[in-house]
Amino acid sequence: MRESWVNSAERIGADLHLELSGPGGRRAALIRALREAVRSGRLAPGTRLPPYRSLAADLGVARNTVADAYAELVAEGWLTARQGSGTRVADRAEPLRGAVRTPVRTPVRARGPRHDLRQGAPDASSFPRAAWAAAYRRALQAAPSEAFGPGDPAGRREVREALAEYLARARGVRTEPDRIVVCSGFAHALRLLFGQGAGGVLRGPVGVEAYGLGFHRELLATAGVRTVPLPLDEDGARVDLLGREHAVLLTPAHQFPTGGPLHPERRAAVIDWSRARGSMVLEDDYDGEFRYDRRPVGALQGLDPERVIHIGSVSKSLSPALRLGWMVLPERYVGPVLAAKGEREAWASVLDQLALAEFIVSGAYDRHVRRMRQRYRHRRDRLVATLAAHAPHVEVTGLAAGLHAVLRLPPGTERSTVKAATWQGVALDGLAAFRHPQGEPAAGDGLVVGYAAPAEHAYGAALEALCAVLPPG
Ligand SMILES: Cc1ncc(COP(=O)(O)O)c(C=O)c1O
Repeated sequence: MRESWVNSAERIGADLHLELSGPGGRRAALIRALREAVRSGRLAPGTRLPPYRSLAADLGVARNTVADAYAELVAEGWLTARQGSGTRVADRAEPLRGAVRTPVRTPVRARGPRHDLRQGAPDASSFPRAAWAAAYRRALQAAPSEAFGPGDPAGRREVREALAEYLARARGVRTEPDRIVVCSGFAHALRLLFGQGAGGVLRGPVGVEAYGLGFHRELLATAGVRTVPLPLDEDGARVDLLGREHAVLLTPAHQFPTGGPLHPERRAAVIDWSRARGSMVLEDDYDGEFRYDRRPVGALQGLDPERVIHIGSVSKSLSPALRLGWMVLPERYVGPVLAAKGEREAWASVLDQLALAEFIVSGAYDRHVRRMRQRYRHRRDRLVATLAAHAPHVEVTGLAAGLHAVLRLPPGTERSTVKAATWQGVALDGLAAFRHPQGEPAAGDGLVVGYAAPAEHAYGAALEALCAVLPPG
């Protein structure tokens, strides 16, 4: 039963990985990219193409552009269109073997997996292009001339004011604009705080959750900062084990990647520890807005703004491409962080900052987050329903929030499952990929499945492919 479902001929909508580039406008570029995908065999005969609307949304082109491109390729014989069965790759469009082909530089994305279920990215096809463009235009028109001058390393006042209001309202952060420093995302914040090792704003050793983003641990290691893994249990990080560390880095609202919130008693305990030792708590609030089952878990910073540095970014809520984030600092750290930032260093563009301010103040940010929360909840529910129907033996955890879930696997099966997935063109990570090298493997075997990134039309096929690689019950 499961076999026939997985092998269904109606598998549609795999992300086409098309890169629109070259001369002649978007229609010509799309025709070229599709023709090349068919000619090279990347799109096999019989493959059903996404509906105009979905592909147009994914690529950010007009629906008519897609319709025109399909029509052109039908006329050329590469595609067929039949009432009721959509547009497909024509049967006779065999890949050219050994024929001389115009050398085409394969776009990086075209070499990627067929289904991307890695955690990390939001749904790129849902970026609010129109609302962002409108906010950008309004911000640009309203900006005073001095905005185009050298600028303030702390960030534009407009965006710091907007963030102070938003973070208080949405995340329970206690701050004022002068304690906010705009940066280029969480990773940039870590660099600014620890950048010069012992001479940095903060120093190590730093307690970290035993499971977390390896990239952040490496970033600290590069700055000469030692990290000490804190074991995790059902209440979150064992902050009771903190000792002489100078700081601790936590994901209190939604432990990354296992998925639970830090227990209220542990929240209080880590604040007590930091007060007693004069240490700092770094709060990585990477997806605090996406909580599905109840009200958001408020920011830890609200418990003690003097001991917690709250760090957030738009990487999950809008797009990691914007490279826009913020640090909410105790007053005593503002100067040192600005000194670390320097007068002419890597700043988020002032224009993007002004656009974000306008986006927040106009209510567009709230609307977008609300819309995405609904969409991601729906995706999460589809994941759960698909697993219940086709892999009921697999337990899913970490479902209450965020853009990823953890699929619990029988002991000893994680590595082979990840390998099988890779073979089948499904990109995802096992829990082991996030474990601190010195941390205990307490979280067991599991897959971290990001359900936000696939384009809407490709999600069903990605779930099918996922179920097909799970170990049998
Ligand atoms: C655990 C975690 N922290 C922080 C971030 C945000 O990183 P950045 O703002 O550098 O894009 C991410 C990814 O979006 C993440 O997964």
